[in-house]
Amino acid sequence: MTTLTAHETRIDLSDAALWQDGPPHDEFARLRAEAPVAWNQRHDGHRGFWAVTRYDDIVAVSRDTETYSSRNGVISLDDFDDAQNDKRRTLLEMDPPQHGKMRMLTLPGFTRRGVGALEQDVRSRVSALLDRLTGAGSFEAVETLTKQVPIITLCSLLGIPMDRTADLIRWSDMLIGSDDPDFVDPIVDHYTEAERRMMPFGHPAALQAFEMGRELAADRRANPREDVVTMLVQAQVDGRPLTEDEYLNYFLMLVVAGNETTRHTMSHGLRALADHPEEWERFRAGGVKSQTAVDEILRRASPVHFVRRIATREAELGGVTIARGDKVAMYFASGNRDEAQFDGPERFDIARAQNAHMAFGKGGPHFCLGNYVAQLQLRVLIEELAMRVARIETTGRVNILRSNHIHGVKALDLAFHSA
Ligand code: HEM
Repeated sequence: MTTLTAHETRIDLSDAALWQDGPPHDEFARLRAEAPVAWNQRHDGHRGFWAVTRYDDIVAVSRDTETYSSRNGVISLDDFDDAQNDKRRTLLEMDPPQHGKMRMLTLPGFTRRGVGALEQDVRSRVSALLDRLTGAGSFEAVETLTKQVPIITLCSLLGIPMDRTADLIRWSDMLIGSDDPDFVDPIVDHYTEAERRMMPFGHPAALQAFEMGRELAADRRANPREDVVTMLVQAQVDGRPLTEDEYLNYFLMLVVAGNETTRHTMSHGLRALADHPEEWERFRAGGVKSQTAVDEILRRASPVHFVRRIATREAELGGVTIARGDKVAMYFASGNRDEAQFDGPERFDIARAQNAHMAFGKGGPHFCLGNYVAQLQLRVLIEELAMRVARIETTGRVNILRSNHIHGVKALDLAFHSA
């Protein structure tokens, strides 16, 4: 029997099954109190990693890009070699100054102002979906609502034809849900493990999304438009256009990052509002700003459990010594419940005054590029809902994704009772 030291996790946070009942908030509370930077042993051949659970330590790691590099497997707790990292590299897996140059390429599409242009369209689509669902009895909300809004918004932003939304949803479900038996994809068996590890998200659905990315790039070279794909095909970095891998990885990251996270935040938000009718009533009564409510929904949902870094040199953090080459995972799921940062963090408080949540990251250069896009959709959803729906009820399933990385909702049965 192995004996745990004071600075080890008591559960294996890399075990996807563990997260299926929701984030392990009790263990996170213990870690924040007793072992804020804890070693998580792995038992499957991959090296262990450090789990950083306090808000302030997460901000410190995020900021210090020289000590904590992003160049190695940011969205996974597994080990990767240089060839795998290079082939899969996106904006997320770059450090300054290269990261800043790549981020600038699409930034104009993601500013508050740029995104504001989408509002009317998002509002009319959300209205149409809600009109259909309100007062219509029980329905499954992921399929009918929360999957639909983000993908439509993303297609508008990127310039992807609306008849491709079902493909994009299928691929991103496969890429994000590869540890969940509900998303088993037989295509995986056509490739060896070594081949898959060279693919983004380690999954061949990425190759199908790449095909779409290539078709769109060819079209936008011939017919430029005002969209993010056109920005990418016209981009120059260090005086040259993007390589094919750079373009495809960028495209895929936007498609997946913009789709899954927003969807799951909406689902968690609706569930929280159903579970806390008094908070929904407060919002509907007016006096609580939409932005305040959106922030609390984001904090509560915290759809990205962690991102991770790799130490470029020895460092001291939270009472432990991190060695060069160690993996360091920042648990936003824990930071968003840190009692040193939030008053009564377990409470869902729609009017929470101090709420510098870290659902989009915090303090570092990788802060979510699409945060205005996500916030716009969340704001429109609750505003349009408030006009129509007096009570939200959970009527059956609340199925959580089996993933150590994404706090996903696979199915959510709801009823919207009209005002
Ligand atoms: C509620 C929805 C969303 C959440 C919770 C979320 C969360 C995050 C997080 C945690 C990061 C990493 C931050 C870090 O490492 O410091 C990130 C990065 C990123 N997100 Fe989001 N995201 C959301 C929506 C979106 C949307 C809608 C898009 C695009 C349309 C998007 C695009 C990106 C991109 C491109 C990055 C990489 C930024 C970089 O490395 O510089 N995200 N997001």
